[in-house]
Parts: sequence; C-alpha cells; structure tokens
Amino acid sequence: MLTLDSVLQAGLTPVAAAETAELYSPLDELIEQGFGRKLGWIDGATGEVMCLPPGEPTRDWGMRTEMCREVARRGRPEFLDDEDPFLTLALPLPAPDGGTVVAVGTFVRRKVELCEDFTQAAELLGWDPQTAALWAIRQTAWPAELLERVARLVEKQCDTEIHVRKLESETATVSANLAGTYEEISLLYRLTQNLKLSESDEDLGQVALEWLGEVLPARGLAMYLTALGSPRDEPVSHSVRTEPALLTYGDCPLNVGEFEQFIDALGPGASSRPSVVNGPQTSRPDWPVPQVHGAIVVALSEGNNLFGWLAALNHSSGEEFGTVEANLLSSVAAILGIHSGNIELYRQQAELLTGVVRALTSAIDAKDPYTCGHSDRVARVAVRLAEELGIGAESLNTIYLAGLLHDIGKIGINDEVLRKPGKLTDAEYEHIKRHPEIGHKILRDLGRLDDVLPVVLHHHESWDGRGYPAKLDATVIPLLARIVAVADSFDAMGSDRPYRQGMPGEKIDAILRAGAGRQWDPEVIDAYFRARADIDAIAHDEQDDILAGLAQYSR
Ligand SMILES: [Fe+2]
Ligand SMILES: [Fe+2]
Repeated sequence: MLTLDSVLQAGLTPVAAAETAELYSPLDELIEQGFGRKLGWIDGATGEVMCLPPGEPTRDWGMRTEMCREVARRGRPEFLDDEDPFLTLALPLPAPDGGTVVAVGTFVRRKVELCEDFTQAAELLGWDPQTAALWAIRQTAWPAELLERVARLVEKQCDTEIHVRKLESETATVSANLAGTYEEISLLYRLTQNLKLSESDEDLGQVALEWLGEVLPARGLAMYLTALGSPRDEPVSHSVRTEPALLTYGDCPLNVGEFEQFIDALGPGASSRPSVVNGPQTSRPDWPVPQVHGAIVVALSEGNNLFGWLAALNHSSGEEFGTVEANLLSSVAAILGIHSGNIELYRQQAELLTGVVRALTSAIDAKDPYTCGHSDRVARVAVRLAEELGIGAESLNTIYLAGLLHDIGKIGINDEVLRKPGKLTDAEYEHIKRHPEIGHKILRDLGRLDDVLPVVLHHHESWDGRGYPAKLDATVIPLLARIVAVADSFDAMGSDRPYRQGMPGEKIDAILRAGAGRQWDPEVIDAYFRARADIDAIAHDEQDDILAGLAQYSR
C-alpha cells in the first residue's frame, strides 16, 4: 500500500555523505539550529554539488549551481527560485577549509493545502508535482522576510564560528611551533655544551644523532664522516680517521657504500644547501637506494672544507619531510661542521709541529752523529721517569718533546768543538755550555712549544746550584728539567764516544746514586732505581722510533 511516507522516501534525496557531514558539521549544526533542518552544500568556487539538501524531493540542479557561484561571489544570501509557494535559499558561508560554500535549500513560504495545484511551480523547480505537493504540506511555513532574517543571523554565527575555529587552530599551531622551537633550542644548547675540543667529531656526532632521534620524526639518522688522512700517511695521532665512517641511530637502511651512492644521486648542489628528498624523487626507477623513501640531507662543512653529511632517513609516520625538520638538521650540521673544522685545524697544527720536531731532531743527529739516537732515548727515559713520579698524562707529551729537543741548541755550536775526540779546553767547554740558551732562542718563537722551553733552557742545572746557565738549585729548577737532566746524564754515560767506551750499568748506577742530592734531584734518582729495568730496556732498544713516540704522546 502506498503511504505518504513511502512516497516521500522514494522521491527524497538521501542524507549527506558521512565525510561531507563531518567537514561541515559545525556549520550544519548552526544551520539546523536556525532553520530547523539541514541544507545542501555547493562549492562556491566550482559550483560542484557536494551534498544535496537532505529530505527535499530530488531534482536536477542544472543552472542553479552556476547561480550559486554568483551568490558566493556577491557574498550575501539570495533566493534562487521564487515560485509560489516555493523559495530556494542560497546562503554563502566561509568554508572551514578556506574558500566559500553555499548552503542551499527550498522552503515553503506559506501554509499550503493538500488540494492546491502545484504543477506549474513544481515543474519550474524541476520537481514531480505529486511528490512536491506531498512534501510541501509537511513543511513549516517560512515567510520570505523571516527566512532572509534568519539567513543573515546564521551567516553571522557561522562567520563567528569559523573565526573562532581558525583562532583555535592558529593557537594550536603556535603552541606546537613553540614546543618544537623549545626542543630545538634545548638540543642546540646541549650540543654546544659538548663542544669540547678533546671530544672527537665521532663522539660528538653520536651524541648529536641520539638527541636528534628524540625530536626528529625519522626512522633512521646517519652521519657520514669523510676520511681525514690518506691510509698511506704516517700516523701522527691514533685519532686520525683514514677511512670514511658512518655513524647511525635508529633504523638506518644504508651502509657506507650505499650512503655514498645516495649522496651522488643528490647532485653537487647538496653540498651547499639542505636537500629534502621525498616521494617524487625516490620513486623514480633510477633512484639508487630504493630503501630510502624520504630524506633530509645536510652537508657538514666549514668554509670550503667538507667533512661529511648528516641525514634523516624515512619519515616515521610515512609523511614527507618539510622545512621545519630541514632547519633543525641544518642548525645541528652547522655546529658539527664548525667543530670538525676546529678538530681539523688542530690536527694540521699537530702535524706541522710533528714535522718541525722531526726536522729539528734530524738536524741534531746530523750535526753530532756520535750521539745518534740520544735525543730519542732521552725522551723515552724521561717519559718513563715522569710516569714513575706520578706526573699526569697531559705532561707526558711535553716531556717527550722536551727530551727530543733538549740539545737542539747544539745546532749553534761549532762542529770542531762538538766532534772533538779529546778533552775540551776551558774556552771550548764555555762555548758548548751555551747550547741550552741557543736552543731556547731557536724554539722561543714556535708558540706550541712554550711548555718545552724551560726544560731546554735548564736541563744542565745542578741540584746544588752549580749547573748552568742560570745556576738554579733544588726545586727552583723546573721539575721536567730535573727529570730530563737525569735521563740525559744516564744516556750520555752509557753511550760510546770516539774517545771512550760507554760505561757499564753498575758504574752509571753508582755515579747517579752518589750524585743524588748533589747534581740530581734525589726523588728523580729514586724513581730511576725503581724503574731501572724498564730504563735499561729503553737504552738497549735500537729502534729509532720517534714517529711512534710522537703518535703515542700527542695531545
Ligand atoms: Fe745538553
Ligand atoms: Fe743531551
């Protein structure tokens, strides 16, 4: 049996699609409050019907969608159809996602009777007359003037609602940005607190990766550090990296070789600015590392020196990386680049100093071939004595260099005097006694050797004040100079000379024991006897291994 409801249901438009209802739900609510029913939605820019007015008889909207675009452009409510008793309202409203939407719906402007003939009006609206009649008698009457007034009220409320929502969303964005900025500043602050020069770039890099892992939405983080020296170079310090290193955090999908391919694929521009790589690039068939779907890559550089790369790999929620993440990575990379630059500068200085010390040591050996290896042995015996005396590791480098360079002033002594096989005259002895001062003068202008200078100048002072050049005594003589004095005498007595054989160990021991408290610091002599076996081994070690010593004690 045909009922009123079944006729209505058959000819009426369905309720709004779920997603449209959700998007416009704040406006829908206000419209329902104002008009007592929901309206349809038409896109104000394109005229596309997003949702037909629910509950109205179905019809083709045809030209009306174009009229809605016009209404949206004019920005005030208008009637699209005015065919007694029907009024079709078009109400332009600000859309929640920006732009304009037009709420549309047909109203009945007066009370109607079931016996009325709506044929003409219904046809003009594109409705089936019978369905239109059955629908019309169930509607509340909305006089045009009231409809217009309510439309303006609803429009105002929607404006306010959208404005409030926009403010809420802006507040949320600002809060999120502030939280992000705070995290960024706190990370950079922590990083700068760790910029100790003693820390290697790898140590600092690993710390940086861990901290970045806490704030960046990346599955993996990687830091590629280039090799600093060639593997063929002789080692200056154990800390020099001769192969590239890849530090990782989280789930890093690349090994060293793959990382290099990845960098090559980014092109040369990547070394001057951050590169953000997302889907369009990584889904290309020639993309060499398909395990990387998205990435940010920043070069670690300082001036023209490129030290490596810092990369965030694969977004943790599959989204695309953006400028916020790129900026954070750039800031961290800038700090790491400066740190690497400082380390490199320090390494180059250490290398230069090593070269200078090697050159000077060879110059002494060339000058006085009979004492070949003396400087190296004195350096190593002095270090052993210093260790025995509990001198800190930070001074061992100074004492090693001081041992190597203690007789550098002999460069300024005449060859005939230096190589004279027999006993020296008083004048010749006075001439030779000038070598500590000459040595001091030679090294004075090499800034990095400041700590070594007092040792070179005072290694011939005597505990009883009868040495030279300053006749200092006891503890007024710098401690490192007192140590080198013992090492120097020990090696000089044990070495063969053109005019005499080296003394046997027992005789050297007897002389040192007798000279404790007269020529030498008694505590250093005690240390000598405690470390006697090691010192003997050094004295008989023929290897002239200055480089290994420099590497071992380099700061
Ligand atoms: Fe000397
Ligand atoms: Fe010497």
